[in-house]
Amino acid sequence: MTPPHASGQGSGKLILFGEHAVVWGASALATSLPAGAVATIARTDALDTHLTLERGGEQLARISPDAHAGPLEQALAVLLSHFTLTSTLDIHVTLNVPPGAGLGSSAALATAIARALCKLDAVTDASHRVTQAVQASEGIFHSSASGIDQAAADGSGLIHFKKGPPIERTILRDIPDISIAICQAAPGASTAMMVQGVAARRACAQERYATIAQMITQIVNEAIVAMRAQDLPRLGELMDFNHGLLCAMGVSTQDLDMACHVARHAGALGAKLTGAGGGGCIYALGDSPAHASAIAEALTQHGFEAFSTTISGAPSF
Ligand code: PMV
Repeated sequence: MTPPHASGQGSGKLILFGEHAVVWGASALATSLPAGAVATIARTDALDTHLTLERGGEQLARISPDAHAGPLEQALAVLLSHFTLTSTLDIHVTLNVPPGAGLGSSAALATAIARALCKLDAVTDASHRVTQAVQASEGIFHSSASGIDQAAADGSGLIHFKKGPPIERTILRDIPDISIAICQAAPGASTAMMVQGVAARRACAQERYATIAQMITQIVNEAIVAMRAQDLPRLGELMDFNHGLLCAMGVSTQDLDMACHVARHAGALGAKLTGAGGGGCIYALGDSPAHASAIAEALTQHGFEAFSTTISGAPSF
């Protein structure tokens, strides 16, 4: 007997170091965020399946799966095709990260729904099924995805990631708490467009980009050492350095640079854009939760949306 309703969770993610270069095979560091998506799914006898998406009490979308409509409708259709469903469904998802801002909202959404569907469908190979379904859904949103969003969406905590093939994903458990502020500096840009833009620039300057990839791999390795040693000044310096390389790749913007400057002016030990760039978010390093919260406050006073949080080697749920 399968249950009439079920729920599931997915984590948002923050790329700490190595975005873009991860697409060409360099290593990257990402973490699951405590915030993400929560799905509740009930069987219905309505004619169609519906997904209602909300954030902060505001309805963002109400759609049905459709392989020929927009990305959300297509992603839902692809996701549901991985399950044997015997009725229509009422799917309700609460997002706790801003959508389309580089914080992994689409992978969190897909993971939350897939996990709930596994319970509803009494799936025996749940972990494999979630991986397959989320991968297919992410393929709709980010055609050239490295897979790093999905790797962080299961809530495993801090991960050292390499695209492969085969994917190398090492969970780093031995990392003490790190206090950060996350700030959405501008609406997010299309990841696929940003990745394509970098690919075009890289094709014209292959040696330079090979050097950037080596530098980023080195930054990632040094960041792991700095995190383990709680060497926050060193970690902040590495963030600033990685931000500089992302500027050199042409993916930062005036808003993202401004947010980094505001954070550093408020005492952040380092700041960098996170995700695809072209808009979206930055994160900044504090030396304590109170410091990170003061940095978030300074960013908010400047007109940006910001919050503080703690990351660590612990799983987020
Ligand atoms: O902004 P996001 O969350 O879509 O992050 C994209 C990260 C990239 O490295 C630019 C692309 C990828 O697939 O890894």
